[in-house]
Amino acid sequence: MFQRFRRTRLNSHLRSLVRETSVGVNDFIYPLFVRSGEGIKTEVASMPGVFQMSIDEVLKECGEIKKLGLYSIILFGIPDVKDSIGSDSLCEHGIIAKAIRAVKEAHPDMFVVTDLCFCEYTEHGHCGIIDEKHQTVNNDATLKISAQQAIVHAKAGADMIAPSGMMDGIITTLRDALDGAGYENLPIMSYSTKFASGYYGPFRDVAESTPSFGDRASYQMDPANRREAIAESISDELQGADILMVKPALAYLDIVREIKDNTSLPMAVYNVSGEYAMLKMAGKNGLIDYERVVMETMIAFKRAGADIIISYHAKEVAKMLQK
Ligand code: PBG
Ligand code: ZN
Repeated sequence: MFQRFRRTRLNSHLRSLVRETSVGVNDFIYPLFVRSGEGIKTEVASMPGVFQMSIDEVLKECGEIKKLGLYSIILFGIPDVKDSIGSDSLCEHGIIAKAIRAVKEAHPDMFVVTDLCFCEYTEHGHCGIIDEKHQTVNNDATLKISAQQAIVHAKAGADMIAPSGMMDGIITTLRDALDGAGYENLPIMSYSTKFASGYYGPFRDVAESTPSFGDRASYQMDPANRREAIAESISDELQGADILMVKPALAYLDIVREIKDNTSLPMAVYNVSGEYAMLKMAGKNGLIDYERVVMETMIAFKRAGADIIISYHAKEVAKMLQK
């Protein structure tokens, strides 16, 4: 007896029959940034292909991506006026509420996820209310107004709420608030394991949300901590989250896999702005085969255990998949 050491070389047909992982347009959520005004579509210098758009332009964009088979978006609001508590996000006439309503009216078949946070809406750029004395975010005061923001999103017609501020107890708080207001079936996708990361740089340009002092390390996670990363996500599962998330994606695929193996919930990854910018710039400069590297990256997310990919590449990927 001997063991055959040579593996049979499969032809391309058989390789595709046995491929373990696939990427489809249904895997994606496409981020859109909305601001007031009309006919506004301003490209972000650090993120070619990503725009700040007024609501009318967002509606056009939705029409376009639907033609590509892309029916899920996550909305970020950029308000005209920022203040200490992010009032614009707590008001039915604020930018995010108006945008949700407009999209759901013009495109009822679009699945609208909303990022729930305060950093885009506060003048200090932090993800919650600032405790003046300690110059840190006041977790529990932020929970209260987060519940208010969730109800604003829900009333406007959001299909899923995605809290991104990493406040402790946020999922219990939002679930109670939504249930209490009659939104028992509105799902919550938690940014459950979110690292304090340098990869968010370009996002803060587009969302105009760079903190005016300090950083987010007191509420976001230390990139060095694996066990804590798992615990944060599992805590959100126990609090009633419907979908867990790891953010950023590329540098944290080990964490994605480990959470996936420890939860029964679906998982999302957020392929963040800095990750997008790196590939864009390398592609633009002819250093890599851009489309190939993008697809390879998306496959890696799925292989690591992601069910959902939130990505600025979503529209391009949808186009690639149509070819
Ligand atoms: C808001 C939020 C951020 C991102 C998503 N939601 C910014 C941050 O935490 O600084 C980052 C997304 C990206 O970099 O693409 N809290
Ligand atoms: Zn934030």
